[in-house]
Amino acid sequence: MEVHNRYVSLKNHINEAPSESDLEIKTTTLSLEPKEGSGDVIVKNLYLSIDPYQVNRMKFYSSSQETSSFSQRLPLGQAIDANGVGEVVASDNAGYKKGDLVAALIGWEEYTNIHGGGGVFRKIESTEFPLSYHVGVLGLSGFTAYAGFQYVCKPKKGDKVFVSTASGSVGSMVGQYAKLAGCYTVGCAGSKKKVDLLKDKLGFDEAFNYRDEPDLKATVKRYFPDGIDIYFDNVGGEMLEAAVANMNVFGRIGVCGAISEYTDSTKRAAPDTLAIIYKRITIQGFLAADYLQSYSEFIKDTSNYLRQGEIHVLEDISLGLESLPSAFVGLFRGDNVGKKIVQVIHD
Ligand SMILES: NC(=O)c1ccc[n+]([C@@H]2O[C@H](COP(=O)([O-])OP(=O)(O)OC[C@H]3O[C@@H](n4cnc5c(N)ncnc54)[C@H](OP(=O)(O)O)[C@@H]3O)[C@@H](O)[C@H]2O)c1
Repeated sequence: MEVHNRYVSLKNHINEAPSESDLEIKTTTLSLEPKEGSGDVIVKNLYLSIDPYQVNRMKFYSSSQETSSFSQRLPLGQAIDANGVGEVVASDNAGYKKGDLVAALIGWEEYTNIHGGGGVFRKIESTEFPLSYHVGVLGLSGFTAYAGFQYVCKPKKGDKVFVSTASGSVGSMVGQYAKLAGCYTVGCAGSKKKVDLLKDKLGFDEAFNYRDEPDLKATVKRYFPDGIDIYFDNVGGEMLEAAVANMNVFGRIGVCGAISEYTDSTKRAAPDTLAIIYKRITIQGFLAADYLQSYSEFIKDTSNYLRQGEIHVLEDISLGLESLPSAFVGLFRGDNVGKKIVQVIHD
């Protein structure tokens, strides 16, 4: 049996911010009968992860394209691989059977053939939590926050922690992990609504709208009169410079992302090197994938926090594959609050 399979593809490579017209929805056919001996797993996609890093794959050139297999430059016209959750509809793989729910590297499409089953990240054995959580809070976004904060930033009770894109998918989790670790926690975000959410719902000690602040170094100083011990950086650019200027000695900066630089090739952080030396600041870039051995510990801890109501989940779900281009482009306008997900609607 064959199905029509709609997918989102890149129409042309880009240099700066993406627009919806850079993406198009195309249709192909997909056989739902895996070849015998192939190990293939065919999945009906249910929830798709919408992530900023994809923009770097869409560019003519980005240094990220040279470093990891999953950040390679995207070919034009093909489905774009992405994380998500799906239901197995056919399998030639002993590890998976029809009806299994999986978190996997699938694609911005309605169905994916996971060749040899290698892209399956894990089976979702329990339906205790909504399936979408396995894309966000219990998926790679939550794990990025968990691993980056625990293993790169190495928090101690009482540390003073600063988080950028604090109402986003990763940032909202970092801030909540920081509060659970007994840290004084300040976040920045791009609107008053987001700032209120951080303080009123997520329990941040303080938050500010960086768009209202002409002098970021002075602003960060205002929120951290005694300096920052940990900066979890999602944006790069001037905010990284402002954080470095306000770090304490032996401060740690976990460089998770640099979204302000993704869409502006002229913007590159130039933090004060002397401050880094004399304050003995550790600045470490990381990829969540480096810490996958800790995934089960993350699931256990975060599931417990969820059960006890100690973590507030922020999800922003758009409906239907046709909503995907605008969902993706919206990340770079700050449209999303929390984890941006597209729910695929099947007839
Ligand atoms: N290292 C890793 O393994 C890893 C894994 C996942 C994600 N990341 C990185 O983590 C960061 C956050 O990702 P996410 O998935 O959680 O996205 P997100 O924060 O949920 O969404 C993106 C947010 O970035 C902010 N933003 C957009 N353009 C900006 C700009 N020019 N300057 C400052 N802020 C801007 C917007 O929030 P505001 O309205 O607050 O501006 C927007 O809502 C990204 O840099 C991403 O690449 C890294």
